[in-house]
Amino acid sequence: MSATRESRTLLETAYAGKTVWLAGHTGFKGSWLAHWLLQLGADVHGFALPPATTPALFDQLGLAERLHHQVADLRAGAAVAASLRAAQPDFVFHLAAQAILRASYDLPAETWATNVMGTIHVLEALRRLDKPCAAVLVTTDKCYENREWERGYREEDPLGGFDPYSSSKAGAEIAIASWRRSFFADAPVRFASARAGNVIGGGDWARDRLVPDCIRALQEGRAIPVRNPAATRPWQHVLEPLSGYLWLAAVLSQPALRPHDKDLFASAFNFGPGLESHRTVADLVAEVLKHWPGRWEDKSDPNAPHEAQLLKLATDKALHLLGWAPVWGFAPAVTATVAWYRQAGGAARTDAAASAPGELASRQIREYEAAARRAGLPWAAPARSGEFPSN
Ligand SMILES: NC(=O)c1ccc[n+]([C@@H]2O[C@H](COP(=O)([O-])OP(=O)(O)OC[C@H]3O[C@@H](n4cnc5c(N)ncnc54)[C@H](O)[C@@H]3O)[C@@H](O)[C@H]2O)c1
Repeated sequence: MSATRESRTLLETAYAGKTVWLAGHTGFKGSWLAHWLLQLGADVHGFALPPATTPALFDQLGLAERLHHQVADLRAGAAVAASLRAAQPDFVFHLAAQAILRASYDLPAETWATNVMGTIHVLEALRRLDKPCAAVLVTTDKCYENREWERGYREEDPLGGFDPYSSSKAGAEIAIASWRRSFFADAPVRFASARAGNVIGGGDWARDRLVPDCIRALQEGRAIPVRNPAATRPWQHVLEPLSGYLWLAAVLSQPALRPHDKDLFASAFNFGPGLESHRTVADLVAEVLKHWPGRWEDKSDPNAPHEAQLLKLATDKALHLLGWAPVWGFAPAVTATVAWYRQAGGAARTDAAASAPGELASRQIREYEAAARRAGLPWAAPARSGEFPSN
């Protein structure tokens, strides 16, 4: 549903009627982003493998019928280049990845081929685009060399990564910075990278992720298996980093950006939650159980592959340069997440009380936008009064 002209937000002004190329639109975050972009009035071209799970949010939202849906492999550079050339996008969001840390121990070479070479294929396709385009290439908070620090990692901290997933995302970051310096100084294309924390939200059905593991166990009346209860993560609702990606690309797309501003914005940004949302896995499970009673069991395995214990993100750069800040704290993020699963359920929920997943997603996006507007965030401001930031 589109808003009236008077109440159009800066985001709507930026995306309505624009062409967006989105890699990874069949995944969890990509499906939410595609749904939001369609709600903003964009024409979306998706490029990804088929949905990997059943159910999948992509199917629940009926996205195949609502956007240009292309099933293709990021590891084929020619396919990426042809797709981007055909779309001639105003905006690019690259979210496609082998995104499961544990799976990267079983598929290390595939993980690097997809996450590093796939990103290079997107960069090469962007190089050949001869029109203005703003792109956000998504990596992760795990791209930092994890020192188990108490303080949050900042954008200039060293990159690294113990496991193949984290190190592949550090590799993608190095490629992004290198391609920017080497090939894009005078190009009409501007791009930034985005590093977000662990996201939660309705419609994630991936294996080996905490919230989907909780929901599957609760739906089946089993105890929730918890592998790493003491590990601390920056939990945030999926709409938080997506608002950051959308706003960052919108700011990058402003033709009036001076060279100095272009360098500031065409760089790496952390999009993490507030400090109170850096919680342990056990805290998250306890919060889920407040909304959906059940039990959990400690399945810590001393022989499990390595995963970092402590990971926090500093987000002052996004706040100071973009005016971006998280909107929902820990409790509201978990409330919205569990509410989505309870109301939409899995593929099996067909009773009269069930809500259509697409309506639920649209409603949650509108609630999130309204909360952001109340918090005075520029991206949610009415276009009349809002301004795009520049230094
Ligand atoms: N979920 C999180 O907590 C989280 C946190 C930080 C960063 N990220 C990053 O955000 C992005 C999206 O994550 P997600 O949770 O939606 O992941 P997901 O696994 O749900 O989706 C991954 C998407 O990438 C596509 N893809 C994978 N391999 C591909 C290939 N070879 N060719 C074409 N498409 C391919 C899939 O088809 C799917 O559309 C990823 O880059 C991920 O690393 C996720």
